[in-house]
Amino acid sequence: MIYDEFQKRAIEYINQGNSVIVSAPTGAGKTVIAEHVIADCLKKGVKVIYTAPIKALSNQKFRDFQETSPDKVGILTGDVTLNAQAPVLIMTTEIFRNKILEEKSNLHEYAWIIFDEIHYIDDYERGTVWEESLIFLPDHMNVLGLSATIPNIGELTRWLESIHHRPVKVVLEEKRPVPLHVFYQCQGRVYENVHTMAKQGYKSADYRHGQRGRLPRFAHVHPNKSHDLIRYLEDEGLLPCIYFVFSRKRTEYLAEEMRVFDFLSPTEKKEVAGLYTELCERFEVAGEPSAEKLRPFVERGIGYHHAGMLPTLKEVVERLFTSRLLKVIFTTETFALGINMPARTVIFDELRKFYGKGHATLKTRDFYQMAGRAGRRGIDPEGFVFCRISPHYIAPEEVQKVVFSKPEKVRSQFNAAYATVLNLYSTHGEQLYDIYPKSFHHFQVRPYLRRKALRDLEAKVDVLKEMGQIENEQITVKGEFASKVYGYELMLSELFDQGILEGLSARQLAILSLAIVYEPRKNTSKPDLSQEARKLEILTRKIKRAIHKVEKRAGIRELCKRCYFHMSPAMDAWVNGASFDETLALVDADEGEMVRFFRMSIQIMREILDAPVSDQLREKICGVIVVINRDVVDSEKQLRA
Ligand SMILES: Nc1ncnc2c1ncn2[C@@H]1O[C@H](COP(=O)(O)OP(=O)(O)OP(=O)(O)O)[C@@H](O)[C@H]1O
Ligand SMILES: [Mg+2]
Repeated sequence: MIYDEFQKRAIEYINQGNSVIVSAPTGAGKTVIAEHVIADCLKKGVKVIYTAPIKALSNQKFRDFQETSPDKVGILTGDVTLNAQAPVLIMTTEIFRNKILEEKSNLHEYAWIIFDEIHYIDDYERGTVWEESLIFLPDHMNVLGLSATIPNIGELTRWLESIHHRPVKVVLEEKRPVPLHVFYQCQGRVYENVHTMAKQGYKSADYRHGQRGRLPRFAHVHPNKSHDLIRYLEDEGLLPCIYFVFSRKRTEYLAEEMRVFDFLSPTEKKEVAGLYTELCERFEVAGEPSAEKLRPFVERGIGYHHAGMLPTLKEVVERLFTSRLLKVIFTTETFALGINMPARTVIFDELRKFYGKGHATLKTRDFYQMAGRAGRRGIDPEGFVFCRISPHYIAPEEVQKVVFSKPEKVRSQFNAAYATVLNLYSTHGEQLYDIYPKSFHHFQVRPYLRRKALRDLEAKVDVLKEMGQIENEQITVKGEFASKVYGYELMLSELFDQGILEGLSARQLAILSLAIVYEPRKNTSKPDLSQEARKLEILTRKIKRAIHKVEKRAGIRELCKRCYFHMSPAMDAWVNGASFDETLALVDADEGEMVRFFRMSIQIMREILDAPVSDQLREKICGVIVVINRDVVDSEKQLRA
């Protein structure tokens, strides 16, 4: 491979011993820079850590790196630990942050830390983890940060340089190797630019300029069929295509609609059928109803992929797609993040999606993260992007904004968890407030917001003092426990402190852990609970109320999550050895969701094992983890397949 100019520049800086931040478009080739650092560390006999924001990405990197350096790669993701002493260690950013705060000294062998998709520092819920990782980075570690295109990469770099004890170089690449060509489908016609679409596509629509309101019912609008668009792509030779949809249900609904198509020749059909059977066997989903349901689609060159599916079945679909035998894949956004899975064409079902609080127009950065999957390097001279536009929902000005604006700046989302505060308190005591000025938040925001952030930090310390995690300027045993269980600190340490945790049976522990991590989707129905579960529900509700009172008094928003017991009958059955299908039948959740929450329960129990608990409780937890972590729930098995 001949390196691109920006890759060469980054590698040169790295070789000179600098930390480096790279900002380049999706698919530009940031991975080779990470691979250079890894190869260099291996050569020099030092260790390196690679972090990624999502598990699908860590898993893919684990396999990729393992291929080039077998036996040299390990992975730590909260639910999987493989080869943890390896010189190349892949982990989630959360695990890295926890490591830094807890056992800084154990990192002395690691010379480099790579943050893939470092623009995640802007993520509302998890961004603080990246920020904390950078603030508390040990002095001896070099950083390689890989980012999608962001306009304030300079600001991020200057901040890092101000707290980091070595030079930080920035490498900017704005060009994408395969140029993109954006089209719009509106009222059944394809347009090449927004202005023509606005003139013709919105013609009969009584659309009040610049206003967001919906169309009156009587206005006549031609249908805008996705079906016609797929036919158009097929006729123009623009397949394969990734079709982005912003709801899980709709991915399957659209696939069903497209069953009238058959994209494969008889030989391809045979090939894909064989491959599907083989992959299903390898990932142990052969015969599963969900795998059988997918088969007729696959045999026509159609696939779907979303978070409600079994993780192993998703993996099967990813492999199929890489084999190029799938021509159209209907998928949610997760398919867009860093996973090397390009196509010739990308379709956006709409340019709006759900952002935490409600539906909003896509951010330009998110649009390009997905659109950038179009155009395979070395295969396609250009990539094609089709946006489906309904005059009912979006104004032409907004379409223009999504596609042609500069991507949004990254903003600090600093919001230290109680566990972080406790870990800092144990090393810095009342001086912990001196750390805040080192944050990106402080670097970026106006003075009044800085004061607010400091007040929030003080309020968290007040809560911890009132709840008994800190006493006489010392971390108590309760506090030590809380400092190990990120995100669920107050609830779990309270249960521990009251002696409740120690008194639970293995089964009750499993039910409780699940209730602690579980978050029902809207309108999820709640089954009748067993007496045991009901008791735990009443107990945790009482504790939560008391905690919220203290938080409210301290003047911070309620951070302690409620426990939800909707899935407890399923956990009960699973622990008793029921099959996956029997267990699934007991809950109002899809397969992927159930597996994800079972895995999260294992993760929280593993965190408890790090806390100061009795040997008896430790044994109980270890035992129940083994029971839960079987079949499709076992993520390690998936990695080994
Ligand atoms: N110099 C090069 N010449 C040819 N192909 C390259 C070069 N560099 C990278 N590639 C190829 O480009 C593709 C995309 O690379 P990569 O996954 O590293 O992109 P990325 O910048 O990390 O994008 P993302 O934002 O999706 O994470 C890969 O298939 C890779 O092999
Ligand atoms: Mg990448």
